[in-house]
Amino acid sequence: MSDTFDPNLCRILREAHSIAILTGAGISAESGVPTFRDALTGYWANRNPADLATPEAFMRDPELVSRWYDQRRCQLASVKPNAGHVALAELQRLAGAEGRRFTLITQNVDGLHERAGSIGVINLHGSLSRWRCIRCAEEKPEHGPAFNEYPVRCACGGLRRPGVVWFGEALPADALRAAENASRTCDLFLSIGTSAVVYPAAGLIDLALANAARFVEINLEPTPYSDRADWRLAAPAGAVLPALISASNRQ
Ligand code: OAD
Repeated sequence: MSDTFDPNLCRILREAHSIAILTGAGISAESGVPTFRDALTGYWANRNPADLATPEAFMRDPELVSRWYDQRRCQLASVKPNAGHVALAELQRLAGAEGRRFTLITQNVDGLHERAGSIGVINLHGSLSRWRCIRCAEEKPEHGPAFNEYPVRCACGGLRRPGVVWFGEALPADALRAAENASRTCDLFLSIGTSAVVYPAAGLIDLALANAARFVEINLEPTPYSDRADWRLAAPAGAVLPALISASNRQ
């Protein structure tokens, strides 16, 4: 990874008063977590989201949906944060030490940002490791081995579902509000490892641009927002982020 970056990018990363970051599945790809839309390897490359990631799918076949999400949850035990996650936790520490605002917003449900040391992460799409009952609404963290029965049952007899946002569902209101506030008031917005096609998450970029924030896109492939980026780094986040933050600190 070349560590020659535009000095203006390094300067704004070091001087921005308020940084907002939106991450997607691409930042966890180097940890071995599949993305959704990458051809051949993405979850949606050979699965239909409507069969797995909607409330209707769960009610139609709770066993199939529960098995798929629990399989993804259990895979988290064998993956760990990569250098990209660690670099963002370091950037948060550096910005915080200088009294600069830093908000990390993620669409991911894998918890890898928190495991890398990031704090106050806004989880727009929930968490694979929290399951709740659709009857009594009890929600509990689940970090153990695979459930021993599917669909998963609550003590009250109700069905338990993964604590993730499905297509057609509203995002957690507090999380979305906090994400929108951070995005519309930041002076630097970074979009990292997301195809930026799922709303309202992708709309956070519009909020930042409407506030004349500088916009950095770090993504292997172009996105609908690439043309509006002040800087576009089409390289693996796990390589770019440590190099960029180190170069910014050296300037
Ligand atoms: P996608 O799979 O749509 O996009 C991931 C992006 O990351 C792609 O554009 C890749 O080019 C890029 N990418 C892959 N590896 C990378 C790497 N090492 N470094 C940098 N970029 C890399 O995933 P998301 O944009 O996160 O929602 O998808 C958004 C939402 O759609 C997800 O939260 C999920 C999904 O359906 C729900 O399930 C509700």
